[in-house]
Amino acid sequence: MKTIVLWLKRILKWVSVSFLALLLFYGVARFYVVYTDSQIEGARAPYFQKQAAEAISVLWHSDEAEIGVVRYGLSPDDLNMQAGEPEAGEAHELRLTGLKASQRYYYAVGNDEAMIYGGTEDDWFMTAPATGGEAAVRLWVIGDSGDPGEVQRAVRDAMKDWVGSHPRQGRPYLDQWLALGDNAYRSGSNQQYQAALFDAYPAIFKNIALWPVYGNHDDRRWTFFDIFSLPEQAESGGVPSATENYYSFDYANIHYVMLDSQASDREPGGAMLNWLQKDLEANTQDWLIVAFHHPPYSKGSHDSDDEGDSGGRLVEMRRQVLPVLEKYGADLVLAGHSHVYERSYLMGCQYGDSAEFSRKNIVSEGVEGRNAKFIKHKSERAMPHSGTVYIVAGASAKVDGAKLDHPAMAVDMMEAGSLLIDVTGDQLTVRYLNDKAEVKDEFSIEKKADDSWKAYRNPDYTGCPL
Ligand SMILES: [Fe+2]
Repeated sequence: MKTIVLWLKRILKWVSVSFLALLLFYGVARFYVVYTDSQIEGARAPYFQKQAAEAISVLWHSDEAEIGVVRYGLSPDDLNMQAGEPEAGEAHELRLTGLKASQRYYYAVGNDEAMIYGGTEDDWFMTAPATGGEAAVRLWVIGDSGDPGEVQRAVRDAMKDWVGSHPRQGRPYLDQWLALGDNAYRSGSNQQYQAALFDAYPAIFKNIALWPVYGNHDDRRWTFFDIFSLPEQAESGGVPSATENYYSFDYANIHYVMLDSQASDREPGGAMLNWLQKDLEANTQDWLIVAFHHPPYSKGSHDSDDEGDSGGRLVEMRRQVLPVLEKYGADLVLAGHSHVYERSYLMGCQYGDSAEFSRKNIVSEGVEGRNAKFIKHKSERAMPHSGTVYIVAGASAKVDGAKLDHPAMAVDMMEAGSLLIDVTGDQLTVRYLNDKAEVKDEFSIEKKADDSWKAYRNPDYTGCPL
């Protein structure tokens, strides 16, 4: 009997030692994979970040260490200004400063010996318009776009077709570009970012600064924060967030807030919501557009009623973040994560699950379906709970089957596409463009200083109980 017990003990010891060794081996191997996947390697063409009225950052990557140089000027034939790095490296980032607002600059990028990229009339960037000023702004929004292939290309080309056939007098084809997270499947590795983002949109990267939010698939490697240079010090307006996870910026008369629904604290009193409160308190812009990855309302490939969905992030964003956004008069809230399109009424004060949604939450129905029009009051400071439109646009590279029965949604569809948003002064128009360049949903919000908004308001809307 004693011998059996002894043997059993030995076996048990052997099993636990082997298990620990296996666990350690797995841990080391996993760390190695994540580490190597996260390294930025190889040449990457220039792209723009932290666009502001008087400055912009140029980023690129070279095969070998070299001293990066950017030449720029008002004509491709006369790149008479130059910025250079103090020392050699492979990852390059130069901030061009002292620029003129709303100005097109041409550029070439290379090293202290030769220019490698740019130098043609297609190689230009624009500075932002002066903050607070009215300008015609065209914004392109992609969501969950990180799956390279036919659908992704069709959605991209549809945007190009549509903007090509709807040009704006004296304006470029686009002014701004937002990505709603999950920018590179499956893990946001450097290689996947190259294939899903840089190789997928090369012509757009030449001209337009990209503003991304952090999705769950971007959170699997460390590349997001190496690839993007985001304004943690309010380099493009807003209040400094002191982190690249979430940030804000201004463009003409629009204030943008980009939140991190994935990895940052979503609790009231936490760093992100404390910053959000300060940022929105300081904001005086006419329009407030907010973006983050996990949708507060969705019955797409994710269910915003399910507390277990995505670790409760959808529910937490709705319960904890929306009251702050609505208090400061958010006009549009954009999210992805569900690979569908869903668009709400102008609505407010609905922080529970979908069964609690009622007509009391609808500020205005506009006209149901296409071409809805919402009127909001234009005042110096945004009116609290004056109505927000919530959009899920996570179908820029793939579409999932879904129930699509969230009662807050005026329009929903399982169709690949992207958003084109035009803001001109007091009018904001949103279009959902499918992969065949057809406008599948369109609505506008107009801000009027008179009392005409009252006629459009649903009399049942109760606002938020104090
Ligand atoms: Fe996601």
